[in-house]
Amino acid sequence: MANDDNTAGKQGVSRRHLLGAGAVVAAGAMGMQAGPAPFGAKPANAQAVANAVRPSVNYLWSSGQQIQSLRRGIETMKSRPFEDPTSWAYQAAIHGYNFAPPAGMPREMADNMNECIHGVRGENFPHRFFLPWHRLYLHYFERILRNASGDPSLSLPYWNYSDPNGRSIPLSFRWPADAGNALYDANRNRFPGSRSQPPLFINRGDPLPANRTDTRASLAVSGFDRFSDTLENGLHGTVHVDVGGRGGDMSGFDTAGLDPIFWLHHCNIDRLWSRWLDTDGHANPAEQQWLDREFSFYDETGTRHTRAVSDTLDSRTLGYSYDDEPFSPFIGFQPILVASAGESGTIPEELGRTEGISLKGRAETVTIAPTDEAMAESGGADLFFTVQDAQDPRPVILRLEGIDYEGAPGYLYEIYVNRPKGTAQEEAGPYFAGTLSPFGLAESVVPLDIDISGLLNRQIEAELFLGGQVTIDFIPAGVSEEDAGEVAEITVESISLVRE
Ligand code: C2O
Repeated sequence: MANDDNTAGKQGVSRRHLLGAGAVVAAGAMGMQAGPAPFGAKPANAQAVANAVRPSVNYLWSSGQQIQSLRRGIETMKSRPFEDPTSWAYQAAIHGYNFAPPAGMPREMADNMNECIHGVRGENFPHRFFLPWHRLYLHYFERILRNASGDPSLSLPYWNYSDPNGRSIPLSFRWPADAGNALYDANRNRFPGSRSQPPLFINRGDPLPANRTDTRASLAVSGFDRFSDTLENGLHGTVHVDVGGRGGDMSGFDTAGLDPIFWLHHCNIDRLWSRWLDTDGHANPAEQQWLDREFSFYDETGTRHTRAVSDTLDSRTLGYSYDDEPFSPFIGFQPILVASAGESGTIPEELGRTEGISLKGRAETVTIAPTDEAMAESGGADLFFTVQDAQDPRPVILRLEGIDYEGAPGYLYEIYVNRPKGTAQEEAGPYFAGTLSPFGLAESVVPLDIDISGLLNRQIEAELFLGGQVTIDFIPAGVSEEDAGEVAEITVESISLVRE
């Protein structure tokens, strides 16, 4: 069921074959669902590339063929009317859209907008849909883009901003800086910098900060849901906010898909899901209820497809992989499904908690002292120190609950743990825990969790932390001192440390 174009995933493919990037198969072989296209159906020349390889944009020549095809595809999509499901505007509206659908748009198309699944909002499902939903969204977008470009070898590139050679937005996305360049978006972050922060003028090529684009912490997280949340609320949200800035396209749900870089950003997030699965013990959930959940998207002919989460577990099922796929003789096989560890039945042990906080572009500090119960239980031992006893493998989580804000604040907070007062930014590395990036966090029923076990361990080892209270610094990024207080407020109901 629903598995309507699953041709690529099952046979073994060698690395050489993958890098060859090329066998083109006709749409007929893909067994597409028949059905009326709602608007302006394209001629049935749809092609798909089997075993396509998505490349890193960092190593594509900005006037080379792949960028030219990419630009041409986006240009064509931008020239299509909104009522066409293969148009640029409609594809962005699938993600988010904040006005009434145009009169005359078929009901089915209108219902398919505003669909993007972030966080968890009271849904009765055990696992996250952020990664599978976006994988399908990108897959159908890529097919539309490929068809619109007229280049059957085109694959969506990914933007690896964690690569020191790639932290600036690619040149082709900022130059020529005019509407004639379909990859350009004028509406990006122009943060001029301040006394304590470097500027972040995206279209000038300012690099995204290294600490905020580090993927190591997210890739080390075990357990699918926590990985998904860490990636979504960490790196993913941070890049949205850093690229968009205040009032920019990328920082808002309803406008993000209008910036061409959005698609390369999500392609990278999708790649990181594949790379996360490379680690032994990392696995997708196996619950049928999660695997069976279905989503619908339009393809390049305007035909609607319904696909299940089970179709997304391995990118090869959808006919593609990434250019940094590790060689494995088992490539092409379905990943082994095992239940994610540590996601059910664990009793969180609260170590300490503090009141909530209101953030408005200024630096704030809170301290967390052990709870009375925790103190009593531990017989007065220093919890924050002894908790790092190697005997206890449960991670220590910094938990921010009840995060709320209006609209798209367009700035973020860096979070530091136990950072001594007056530490210069260059020296703050050992204290950096992560970010609070307001993209998709408001009203989520799951907290923002940051695993700080490794950080605490390193601090203890280096004697940077000697126990006692834990301090948490919230340092704004993307707001100057003069603008603090003028920006949208971000509230957090409570901040705690738990072991679970
Ligand atoms: Cu659905 Cu990066 O967003």
